Amino acid sequence: MRILTTIHAMRLACKQARRAAGEDSTLALIPTMGAVHKGHLSLVDAGRKECDVVAASIFVNPLQFGPTEDFACYPRSFDDDCRQLAKAGVDLLFAPEAQEMYPAGATTFVEVAGLSERLDGASRPGHFRGVATVVNKLFNIIAPDVAYFGQKDAAQVAVLRTMVRDLDLPVRIIVGPTVREPDGLALSSRNRYLSPDQRIQALALSRALHVVEELVDRGERSSVVLRAAAAEVLNHVPGLRPDYIEIVSSDTLEPVVSVASGALIALAAWAGETRLIDNFRVDPASHD
Ligand code: PAF
Repeated sequence: MRILTTIHAMRLACKQARRAAGEDSTLALIPTMGAVHKGHLSLVDAGRKECDVVAASIFVNPLQFGPTEDFACYPRSFDDDCRQLAKAGVDLLFAPEAQEMYPAGATTFVEVAGLSERLDGASRPGHFRGVATVVNKLFNIIAPDVAYFGQKDAAQVAVLRTMVRDLDLPVRIIVGPTVREPDGLALSSRNRYLSPDQRIQALALSRALHVVEELVDRGERSSVVLRAAAAEVLNHVPGLRPDYIEIVSSDTLEPVVSVASGALIALAAWAGETRLIDNFRVDPASHD
């Protein structure tokens, strides 16, 4: 795996890798902020299967963190990340410093209006502007054919799909399923912050989603009923502070009154200082 830290070197490396792979070769991009886990690796695996060249990025993007958020202490494990990504089959890793991505005087941002203020965007003002801006820059630098994101960040996926559509970006977005621990906890780089007690509290998110999923399977469609069922689980865990419980369209993130295929049941909660998210997307095949 080649590691590139400048935009110029990464552009060149992508061109060379494509040329070496053949005229119609395709390039996959897996953007990350590092602290690599099996969720990221499952996306690398999907990229490896589908494309000729696989690129990943590690960049803890300052623009998507609020002033009181965890940018300074976000887990950084670069050497271990490199080992895992290389073993998984990444060909090119882009790992720039902040001043390479945002040199002094950079004042241009990408704002997906409306969607960026919903779900996590409501709790984290400016977050999705930071995500859309950095992902747009990564797309410009790396020019992937396909980019891979995890379903756990469902609101991020909706924002990025809208950005790609509205700006006519020639990139296909593929969403990989949420990867979970055996006890149900969705994998997240932020799980590293959790104390043993908080980790137990955090299990309530997947438990609440499981309750909602069972109700949907049994035919319940009312968002009011489903939301109340999730709240019942989350509100009874001492120490856990729910942030939001939303039932929305997975495309627009607008609330829905009644769930149908494509609806998203999304949760966020605080375990101590750690904000966790999880969601369940109503399956088009089985719930229409
Ligand atoms: O999902 C993430 O890790 C980040 O939001 C992303 C897409 C790498 C942009 O910084």
